Amino acid sequence: MMATPALDRIVRLETGKSADLDGVMKVMTDAFGNRYGEAWTQSQCAGILPMSGVSLRLARDAHSGAIIGFSLFRSIAGESELLLLAVLPSRHREGVGMRLLDDFIGQAQNDGIARVHLEVRDGNPAISMYRSAGFTQVGRRRNYYHGADGLRFDALTYALEL
Ligand SMILES: CC(C)(COP(=O)(O)OP(=O)(O)OC[C@H]1O[C@@H](n2cnc3c(N)ncnc32)[C@H](O)[C@@H]1OP(=O)(O)O)[C@@H](O)C(=O)NCCC(=O)NCCS
Repeated sequence: MMATPALDRIVRLETGKSADLDGVMKVMTDAFGNRYGEAWTQSQCAGILPMSGVSLRLARDAHSGAIIGFSLFRSIAGESELLLLAVLPSRHREGVGMRLLDDFIGQAQNDGIARVHLEVRDGNPAISMYRSAGFTQVGRRRNYYHGADGLRFDALTYALEL
């Protein structure tokens, strides 16, 4: 999906930094909850951010400036991995998630990356979005996510050749 002028009027994308993590964690908590064990803690985010090849991208409401979504990804040795992607539930289905996904893919293309990949919980509705962007399933990691109630959930690995 390509960027649309209508969406540009309500959302702007920019690179985030450690000072933005409070706003990112609000989206993280609201979007993921704690049921499936998909969310990262603030200290996990703060720990990875300074690492080489790691990017945090923010989607801000164009009017209020509030963070309404974010992506976190890491590029190493010719491959790029989407680590996290989330949008505030009150802003779902406005195209923000796909805009962040397009941004991730576009950044990888600009960097000459040949293949992008990600892990997603089996059953996560986000899989529809990844499939519509061209990702295909390449693997399964059993019991990868540890839910709050002791339940385990498989992760599916998806990849897209650029
Ligand atoms: C996944 C997520 C980022 C999607 O964000 P979003 O801004 O609502 O996504 P978009 O509006 O750009 O949706 C793009 C397309 O993806 C698909 N899609 C998105 N959410 C969907 C859902 N809940 N069910 C089915 N399809 C969905 C649809 O095809 C949608 O297009 P459409 O609205 O024209 O039908 C958001 O639901 C979220 O934050 N989920 C919780 C966090 C998460 O699980 N992240 C992914 C794993 S890291």
